[in-house]
Amino acid sequence: MSEDFSSAAAARVLACFPSVGATVSGEHVARRLGLSRTAVWKQMRALRARGYKIESLGRQGYRLAAVTTAPVPTEVQPRLRTRTLGRELHYLTVTSSTNRDLTRLAEAGAPEGTVVVAECQQAGRGRMTRGWFSPPGGGLYFSVLLRPEIEPARATSLPLIVGLAVARTVERCVPGLRAEVKWPNDILVEGRKICGILCELQAESDRIHHIVAGIGI
Ligand code: BTN
Repeated sequence: MSEDFSSAAAARVLACFPSVGATVSGEHVARRLGLSRTAVWKQMRALRARGYKIESLGRQGYRLAAVTTAPVPTEVQPRLRTRTLGRELHYLTVTSSTNRDLTRLAEAGAPEGTVVVAECQQAGRGRMTRGWFSPPGGGLYFSVLLRPEIEPARATSLPLIVGLAVARTVERCVPGLRAEVKWPNDILVEGRKICGILCELQAESDRIHHIVAGIGI
């Protein structure tokens, strides 16, 4: 995995700005969070690297000129209405494959709902051992960890359920757009594929260890 940005410290620093356009002094942030001025400066730098526009105003401090459009935890998590999905979120600028990363995290005991999202993948995996072209700015690439307590045989319907969830979400995000699920789990808009889903399962005969549901939109 490349550099991870699930930093709670960055979120706390960001929360010191009351709104977009606001200015805060480095001293205020440092005092409020019990950090050194250097630590504050480093967090501002990390936020800038994730696409936040933060201007340095010398002695006046920092101005939050614009927030990022990247799917970083500091933007995604406050908007979640889920109990488990996305509560642990790993944002990567570049990786080989989010399915690969999440499989490793799952094997290390990551909780259900953990998500890995990447700006680009260098070895994105598709179904039937194909690749998945994943250039930066070309789409959304993410994987979701599921640990359902069901018999392994029942997991065959899961890709379809994931497909329905994604299709419904796409329709909600783009009013007027009609997204269809094509068996087993492609999503089509006006007859063209806009999303592929790769579910990878680790199970014993009677028990599922985990399922990594990889979604490329
Ligand atoms: C298909 O072949 O239609 C399935 C493509 C699935 C691609 C996604 S992108 C995010 C996740 N990580 C991967 O390596 N693959 C899936």
